[in-house]
Amino acid sequence: MAFTEIRGIRTAYDVAGEGPAVVLLHGFPLNRSMWREQVKALSPRFRVITPDLRGHGESAATTDPAHMDEMARDLAALMDHLSIDSAVIAGLSMGGYVAFSFYRLFRERADALILADTRAGADSDERRRNRETQAIEIANKGIEGVVETLLPKLLAPDTLSRRPALVARVREMMAKTRPQGAISALHGMAARRDHTPLLGEIDVPTLIIVGSYDSVTPIEDAEELHRGVRGSQLEIIHGAGHLSNLEQPAEFSRVVAGFLDA
Ligand code: MLT
Repeated sequence: MAFTEIRGIRTAYDVAGEGPAVVLLHGFPLNRSMWREQVKALSPRFRVITPDLRGHGESAATTDPAHMDEMARDLAALMDHLSIDSAVIAGLSMGGYVAFSFYRLFRERADALILADTRAGADSDERRRNRETQAIEIANKGIEGVVETLLPKLLAPDTLSRRPALVARVREMMAKTRPQGAISALHGMAARRDHTPLLGEIDVPTLIIVGSYDSVTPIEDAEELHRGVRGSQLEIIHGAGHLSNLEQPAEFSRVVAGFLDA
């Protein structure tokens, strides 16, 4: 584990393995530990970089909205710090929103994209209102205020009823998120731009992954990405919800490794 000051923010990250660089960007309100199984699977052949995005995990939070573009600029600065010119950029959900921003801002630094359980579009008005309600809840009651509401949305019904250890791991990850970090990210996600027009411009190999039970960014969102990005590959992870890499880690890693090898 390492820390460095990135654009004035104390940032935690891990680097494992040697080979072509692959960056894994976590979802909300989670942290880099969600990639544990993928780091293990990929690091024998790749240099895997897993940052805690600003306000998450062990990285410091800002009080202003954590815009997806700012998180993408943080990543570019971390890559500079690690002397990495370009990498495969993979993101799950919020990590995917950051991957879109990164591609728009630094496309020459993205060798390929992996977009898991995410969408290109901006928030609807209703989603923005929900985020504001969540932000108020967190300000009043702490992160616990939203953990129990979010959990059932993130995981497949089977995971929730039959895999208590995984449910506990996700709950613990969420509970560790600093309230200010979560509030800033909610405001940043609510303000994010619509990247749908970018899809037609993506000309690097792109893998799209979605859990068959994902109710946050359902299969239709993944299909829209697949239609939008010429030559992209779509993989549905059966039995997984929104956190497909955690719910079906072996299958997720297999799909990613196959894509990276190709
Ligand atoms: C995530 O998993 O990162 C969030 O569900 C994304 C979102 O709230 O839009």
